This record gives sequence, C-alpha cells and structure tokens, in this order.
Amino acid sequence: MSCPIAKDDFGAGNSSSAPAGTRGRRTEPLKKVAQDVYERIDNDLYRAAGDVWRQPDSPFYLMQSSFNPARVGYFKRKLLAELNIDPQGRTALDVGCGGGILSEEIARLGFAVTGIDPAGPSLRMAAGHAQAGGLRIAYEQGSGEAIPFRNDSFDVVFCCDVLEHVRDVAKVVAEISRVLKPGGVFCYGTLNRTFLSKLVAINIAQVWKRWAMAPPSLHAWRMFIKPDELKSLLGRHGLEWREHRGLGPNVSPLKFLGLLRQRARGLLTYKDLGERLFAVEKSDLSIIYLGYAIKGGTSK
Ligand SMILES: C[S@@+](CC[C@H](N)C(=O)[O-])C[C@H]1O[C@@H](n2cnc3c(N)ncnc32)[C@H](O)[C@@H]1O
Repeated sequence: MSCPIAKDDFGAGNSSSAPAGTRGRRTEPLKKVAQDVYERIDNDLYRAAGDVWRQPDSPFYLMQSSFNPARVGYFKRKLLAELNIDPQGRTALDVGCGGGILSEEIARLGFAVTGIDPAGPSLRMAAGHAQAGGLRIAYEQGSGEAIPFRNDSFDVVFCCDVLEHVRDVAKVVAEISRVLKPGGVFCYGTLNRTFLSKLVAINIAQVWKRWAMAPPSLHAWRMFIKPDELKSLLGRHGLEWREHRGLGPNVSPLKFLGLLRQRARGLLTYKDLGERLFAVEKSDLSIIYLGYAIKGGTSK
C-alpha cells in the first residue's frame, strides 16, 4: 500500500507555501481555494435523492450518531453554562445545515433556528424531518459566501463541518461576522491540516479501501484549515477568538481500525458503527477541532 502523502503538501494547504526554514511558524492568510483543488471534493453528495442524513446505511448517518453528541455537548456548555446565554427569544443561524442534524439540537436548546445550505434536496429532507418531529426551524437555500440575511440579525451562528467544503473561507467568515449581532457568538468545527489528519481523515477514511468509510471525494486535505489560520481570519473580521477544543475517537487506534474494517467488510452498518465509534472531546487539535469567537469581544 503506497502512502500518497507528498512532501510538498505540508504547509501548502489553501495558504501559500512558507519559505524554506519557516514552515509551520508563519500563519499565511487563507486564500480562496484553487479551482483544481476545489474540484476534488463533491458537494453534490448532499444533493442525492433520499435522506442521506438519516439512513442507517449512509455514511452521513455518522454526523448524527458519532459527531453530534460531542459537538452539541461542547456548544451547550459554552453558550448556556459559561456565557450564560438564555436561548429563549434568541436567534441562531446554522450555515451549511445539510440535513438539519445540528439545527435540530440547537432548536431543542430553545433557540429560534434558521438553517441555510446550497443543497436543495438536503434542505427538503431537513424541513420534512423537523416538521415530523414538531420542531419549528426555518430552512432556506443559500451559501455561506452570500448569506441571505441583513447585518446584525443573529445572536449565535453555527458553522460545523462546512468551512473545509467552501471555496472562499474568508468570505464565509466575513459574512458570518456581518450577520451576527454585536456580542453574538460564532460556534464552529472543522478539520485541521496536519500529517495525522491526512493519514486518518483522508487516507484511512476515504482512500484505503481496507478501512474507508466515507466517499473518496468527501474532503480534500488542502482545504483543511489550521487553527491558527482560522484564529487570525476571525480576528480580521471582528470576531474575537476564545477557544479551540479537539475531537478524537472514543477508542484506541487499533480498535478504531478494527471497527472500520468490520464496516468495510459489511459486518457492521453505519448505524452499528456509530454506536461503537464516536467523537469525544480531547485537548489534541490535530484532526478535528471545535471553537468559538465573539463579535466585538463581549458576549451579551
Ligand atoms: C459535511 S456537511 C455538514 C452538514 C451540517 N453542518 C452538519 O454538521 O450536520 C457539509 C455541508 O456544507 C454544505 N456546503 C457546501 N458548500 C457550502 C457553502 N459554500 N456554503 C454553505 N454550505 C455549504 C453542503 O451542502 C453540506 O450540507
């Protein structure tokens, strides 16, 4: 099995390459992703027919079972317990809401939720599921680069597992800052661009068939974002960064590979996998991280 990690990939990402000898030390501004890199991912996956988000045999089932509990737990703790925000009467926007997996949990916390996504079929699934569950969530088609709302509209904006899918992260962050009210909170989660994330999130999860659990065009490593790059981007758009927290698997690396192997051999469905393998909070940011920032620096 050959390892497709090219030496030149390190530090190149969607920022320009650092000069020799400074690699890893300088934080280059995030640039618009090159067209050829952007074309490596397939955002049409979210336009597939049927509810790709909740079928037990769909890889996106894992968003609900393996990722949602940890990220919702983190955001709930930060917003409600630490920032003392009372969700009643407050508005939240979920940018890139997909099938509404996160939007529904935000609504259950008590926020009045709006979800936007470019993928119409996902939005229709999300709307149908919310309605069936008695949740009032407004879903609208729209992209993070052109958020269809006025300045200072929302108390909280969420954008989870989306920033690594967009062509122009700087524009998305600028738009999120624009629609947040002064003192509003931006809650996010994304993938780091490290050796380990290339190994785990790209090669093991997507490329190497022995373990692969995700479509091969789900992610492009060069679109992953280093925490420091995001931190400085937030600052440039009036969002005061507060914290990053890592997510990692609940099991050992060997057990992790064993479970993926069982899924790849058809011995486990994605639903079975999600019951055994899920994300937990860690201090290690090297694969997935969550975080938050406040517009203007002081939460209301
Ligand atoms: C991995 S899914 C995450 C969905 C949801 N945020 C969650 O965590 O359950 C990525 C989502 O990003 C959306 N997306 C892709 N490009 C986008 C853009 N430019 N602006 C907003 N959303 C985008 C996709 O349609 C898809 O629903």
